[in-house]
Amino acid sequence: MYENGDTRHQHHTQADYFEGAQVEENEGGEESGGGEEGEEEGEYDEEDDLHGDDEDHESVVSAYSEDQSDSEEDVDGVVREEMDSFCRHFKGIDRRFRLISKIGEGTFSSVYKAEDLLYDRYENDWDLDASDDGRDRSPPPSKRRKFTETQRRRPKYVAIKKIYVTSSPQRIMNELELLHELRGCRDVVPLITAFRHLDQVVAILPYFKHVDFRTYFRALSFDDMRLYFKSLFNALSHVHRCKIIHRDIKPTNFLYDYARRRGVLVDFGLAEREGTDWSHCPCQLSGLSKSHNSLMQATTLSTGYIKNDNRPSRRANRAGTRGFRAPEVLFKCTSQTTKIDIWSAGVVLLTMLSKRFPFFNSADDVDATIEIATIFGKARMRSCALLHGAVFETNIPTIGEKGFTLEKIIMWATNRIAGGGGKEREKDELREANMSATEKVACEFLARCLELDPAKRIDADEAMEHEFLRGL
Ligand SMILES: Nc1ncnc2c1ncn2[C@@H]1O[C@H](COP(=O)(O)OP(=O)(O)O)[C@@H](O)[C@H]1O
Ligand SMILES: [Mg+2]
Repeated sequence: MYENGDTRHQHHTQADYFEGAQVEENEGGEESGGGEEGEEEGEYDEEDDLHGDDEDHESVVSAYSEDQSDSEEDVDGVVREEMDSFCRHFKGIDRRFRLISKIGEGTFSSVYKAEDLLYDRYENDWDLDASDDGRDRSPPPSKRRKFTETQRRRPKYVAIKKIYVTSSPQRIMNELELLHELRGCRDVVPLITAFRHLDQVVAILPYFKHVDFRTYFRALSFDDMRLYFKSLFNALSHVHRCKIIHRDIKPTNFLYDYARRRGVLVDFGLAEREGTDWSHCPCQLSGLSKSHNSLMQATTLSTGYIKNDNRPSRRANRAGTRGFRAPEVLFKCTSQTTKIDIWSAGVVLLTMLSKRFPFFNSADDVDATIEIATIFGKARMRSCALLHGAVFETNIPTIGEKGFTLEKIIMWATNRIAGGGGKEREKDELREANMSATEKVACEFLARCLELDPAKRIDADEAMEHEFLRGL
């Protein structure tokens, strides 16, 4: 057990220390002194350089640094009381962190912004930007004096993710373990450390400044979108190479700093290793055998439904968020892959291009299937279902046999064409031709992400080479 009950390493790599130590119990042990927020006078403080206050200095901007001006928000009484209660009950936490505000309330946790009071006592190797961009540089002597006279160390911020005590220990451990394993990618949030007091576990992550997706997604230019997805797909490429499925890709789990054009993927609460609970699904068969299999099932089922069907119902992991679930999740595929994240990322792009959020707004999985079918049409949905040994049939009149192109959906959603058939439809197609060349590239990329068959869907590495993301 570490002397301070902290899994971090004092002047060593924090993440390395976490390895094997699992979550250390926080016993509120005595501090070993020193390292308080006010550093000693007379020393140059490289942290000051991070914020580029001195106009003569080349500034080093960390994705996790920020202006002090927006760091202290007004907090309402209820939240203040909640934070105070947390500090009172979680022994020793207030000696390490000063809670500032509540930044998130998810399904599985409450997240607080806090000042890291002991930042200087630990090695902070997780801060890749800071370590890459020359934190070792010394300023010229004249600047050294100027700094010591006018500057004091700026606070460092963290996000404290208080995981609800109702979460199973396995689930919590899974999240922390995967986060730890995924360290080293700029676009994935690094785990700094974690604490446990009684049944309460908290994960400490660097605070990443971001704005609510809903405030900017309509205003994004084509290049903005490309940068957003470059960052998201870079994160996915890293996660998927580690054979990990995130399972919950959506805007609230990809924190994007619009001003800096940087994003980080967070929330590995539902993530799993590819192959967990894996069992055979017909989609695993390829080529001829696959279509033969599908045909067999179609023939069997065309004779009707079994009256008293006592076959056990199919079970598959459905974890994720409504509206972002891939078709194979909806059809309960039992051999889901990392491709489910690509579909969800595609839904985010569809949201941006259509300027509608949420794009899909289903109450349940049946509704979600219907929404997808409205776009793709009955024919493609039938083969998609059969791929996973399921059957899709509907008599909803608005679902056509052929469905629509994604270009058309986007033109409709952005009021550039009216719906309808016949002559109206011809006019639509003419106007569709007027979609800008850049938008067409984005649509083509979108179609690759929203491919119904996961085997044909683009993967993260291929996505990085697609014209939409290439060369950024
Ligand atoms: N490192 C971070 N920096 C800033 N805000 C964060 C950070 N991590 C999480 N948040 C905020 O808290 C919210 C919930 O966190 P998340 O990890 O997604 O938890 P949950 O599993 O409860 O959804 C996020 O949507 C985001 O707004
Ligand atoms: Mg979340």
